[in-house]
Amino acid sequence: MKLNVVTHNPGKVKEYQAEFSEFDVQMVHVNREYDEVQTAYLEEVVDKGMKQLYAEGLRDFMIDDSGLFINALKGFPGVYSAYGQKTLGNKGILKLMEGVEDRTASFKCCIGCMIGEERIVVTGTCPGYILYEERGTEGFGYDPIFTPNGEQSFAEIPIEQKNTVSHRGIATAMLIDELKKRGLI
Ligand code: IMP
Repeated sequence: MKLNVVTHNPGKVKEYQAEFSEFDVQMVHVNREYDEVQTAYLEEVVDKGMKQLYAEGLRDFMIDDSGLFINALKGFPGVYSAYGQKTLGNKGILKLMEGVEDRTASFKCCIGCMIGEERIVVTGTCPGYILYEERGTEGFGYDPIFTPNGEQSFAEIPIEQKNTVSHRGIATAMLIDELKKRGLI
């Protein structure tokens, strides 16, 4: 089966391909725009995106939206994570967190998948903490300032290890379960 992955990020397509290779699913990168509504919920962004792409005639596709939700900042940057990374960067986030004792945060990833008329939406969450300084050189985005367990940051561990606990890894496992349940893979 071919599955269209709608994203600007070729790295995501590679990650998904690696997870789906054993199921004879070929990921096809579709670098195409869809509207990202302004809302506090990743699920709403994904829901609207799926409806739009379906209405435009796309079939057998998946999209995702992810973000870092920091409790002491009332969930910021959340759905604005890409913008927060571009404008504030990790140093800016650490500055906002100066003197803040509650370091709890979570990464979330919502994946929406449409195969024929079957519609699957899953959300993976990875709870953790914001560190006091950037650590490590692996990964991307907020990886150097996030730790799932209070020890190493996501940027200090290999991608395979990150995938076993990460929001995207968890969401992908949930999607695979749902596809299996429905006999689609
Ligand atoms: P996207 O909209 O799903 O591409 O992600 C929004 C932003 O969240 C990205 O620009 C990244 O900065 C951040 N992000 C999402 N997932 C991760 C991750 O696994 N590690 C670090 N940052 C992430």
